[in-house]
Amino acid sequence: MTQGSGTSLAATQGSAGTVLVIEDDAANRALLTHLLRSEGFRVEAHENGESGLAAVESVNPDLVLLDVGLPGLDGLELTRRLRMDPRYVTLPILLLTGRTLPSDVVDGLNAGADDFITKPFSQPELIARIRSALRLRRALVGMEAAHSVVTALANAVEAKDAQTEHHCERLALLAGRLGRRLNLAPAELDAVTYGALLHDVGKIGVPDSILTKSGPLDEDEWELVRRHPEIGERICAPLRSFGAFGPIIRHHHERWDGLGYPARLRGEQIPVGARIVGLVDSFDAITHDRPYRAARSLEQALDELGRGAGFQFDPELTRVFIDEIARMSGQLPDPPLDTFALFARRLRPVGPGLLAVGSFATASRG
Ligand SMILES: [Fe+2]
Repeated sequence: MTQGSGTSLAATQGSAGTVLVIEDDAANRALLTHLLRSEGFRVEAHENGESGLAAVESVNPDLVLLDVGLPGLDGLELTRRLRMDPRYVTLPILLLTGRTLPSDVVDGLNAGADDFITKPFSQPELIARIRSALRLRRALVGMEAAHSVVTALANAVEAKDAQTEHHCERLALLAGRLGRRLNLAPAELDAVTYGALLHDVGKIGVPDSILTKSGPLDEDEWELVRRHPEIGERICAPLRSFGAFGPIIRHHHERWDGLGYPARLRGEQIPVGARIVGLVDSFDAITHDRPYRAARSLEQALDELGRGAGFQFDPELTRVFIDEIARMSGQLPDPPLDTFALFARRLRPVGPGLLAVGSFATASRG
């Protein structure tokens, strides 16, 4: 049985939101429908789990109010099924239950429910909890939209050069792993991930003929390539979380020894997120084909990073990253162990005098 009109999310603009009520008790169903409508919600009500599940797809609700003790497909199983579908990972699910044992709450949380309403329910409390869940939902949807913008921008850069396909995604993955090893706070990890995805977005402003050139660049061409961090910074400035990841875009080509660009920052003057992205960017450039150079082996890449530690790269970050790469590639067991010896082998005894300035610029052109 269905009460209320079928609606889409788009049709709810201006309303408090669409609530899908799935409750087998007719009196309760009617009471909930009346109460929610009086509070400005659009309501679609169903009496069993099977029709309720189908309605999630057709109605696209903003929240599901779900009785646990339904005949047939019960509330817990319905919750599990919804959470297995990527489209409904953030859909708020509030369980209505007469059972309040701790084990029932644990079962509901394990199934993926967001909150519990105990029957008989207090009407003001029910409305307050629904509004609270919807506020969280709106925040999550906003974050998803921001992520879509970031991904679209990153894809626009990769579309300029087929050989860099998935480069930004790999970077985001590796930079995130390195950030977690460094115990960065969640907000810093988000910034590093966004910074990794968008670090080269300024290449949109660099001619394709330069980006895909197989021979060496002349000085004028280098000048254009070196502008991409600042172009990227300007492109991303309107994004809401720009303050967190903007410095990563601007400074991802600085060098530990102060010989990078655009600001010639040195050492810890360089934001840690920019040091992470710069290091991971070089590793990825070395291990993949570029128009100007064929991919090198993992062993060669780690050698090159080791030789750049203290010159191009933050030495401590390089040590942790080499350890992480070795672990990922199966050279080391997963439990942490002291890998300084491994790092020391990479870090060959070369001094600045033996290392031509800019020699690591060949790792990546931008
Ligand atoms: Fe770059």
